[in-house]
Amino acid sequence: MRQAELVIVVLEGFHAVKHALRFTPALVRRITVTSVSSALALCDALAPDVRELLLALAVEGPVEHPTGVQGEADRPLEDRSILRQRSAPLVLLDDPRHPGNAGAAIRVAAAAGASGVALLGTLDPWHPAVLRGAAGLHFALPVLSCSLMEVAGPVFALDADGEPFPSLPDDAVLVVGSERAGLSVDTLARADRVVALPMRAGVSSLNLATAVSAALYAWRLAGLRTPGADAGTARLG
Ligand SMILES: C[S@@+](CC[C@H](N)C(=O)[O-])C[C@H]1O[C@@H](n2cnc3c(N)ncnc32)[C@H](O)[C@@H]1O
Repeated sequence: MRQAELVIVVLEGFHAVKHALRFTPALVRRITVTSVSSALALCDALAPDVRELLLALAVEGPVEHPTGVQGEADRPLEDRSILRQRSAPLVLLDDPRHPGNAGAAIRVAAAAGASGVALLGTLDPWHPAVLRGAAGLHFALPVLSCSLMEVAGPVFALDADGEPFPSLPDDAVLVVGSERAGLSVDTLARADRVVALPMRAGVSSLNLATAVSAALYAWRLAGLRTPGADAGTARLG
């Protein structure tokens, strides 16, 4: 783990604030709400587990987000150890261009129990639009930029022309290509296997976050077939 420079992240809306409070409450610095009673009503309806935490920090003031809730948090320390060692798949996005796609990939990675999400290329994984797409789930798992050279472990590159989808080891690196260009030459050269999610004839490709979702849930659902596996279905809202 390495100390990232101290950066304040804006949490736009109730769901981003809720996830930051739930996963890393010590990092939340400030919560602004248009009305404390309305914000508490949202907690009661959607996330009672964060009610007391929100109440302790909430201050009334102007809020642009339609939920009437926004906040600020310290960015978590960067855990780069997941690039080399892990017990659940690492998602590696190969130069994604659309912040909403990166955010959606982070959101499903958090839900499925991935070890983290790393980005190759120039898109800042902590860009406000990426955070928006992830509903603040950056606070649930490591999210960082990296280079291909830093990544260790069995690399499974996802490509519609790959071999039939295998069962994935827990330490897999799942690489997903960019919206237009797909996988880079360098990533393909680094891949141990290039694998495809089956599609109906005539469909050319899945959206990149959808491909992340399908691959991670193939892994997660296979794990649930193991006797005694943790179903992890406790939904808090
Ligand atoms: C929108 S697609 C890229 C399309 C690009 N024109 C191409 O031909 O690769 C984005 C990424 O999602 C993944 N993907 C999409 N459909 C897939 C499939 N059926 N099997 C495996 N990966 C897929 C790949 O990693 C791909 O690079």
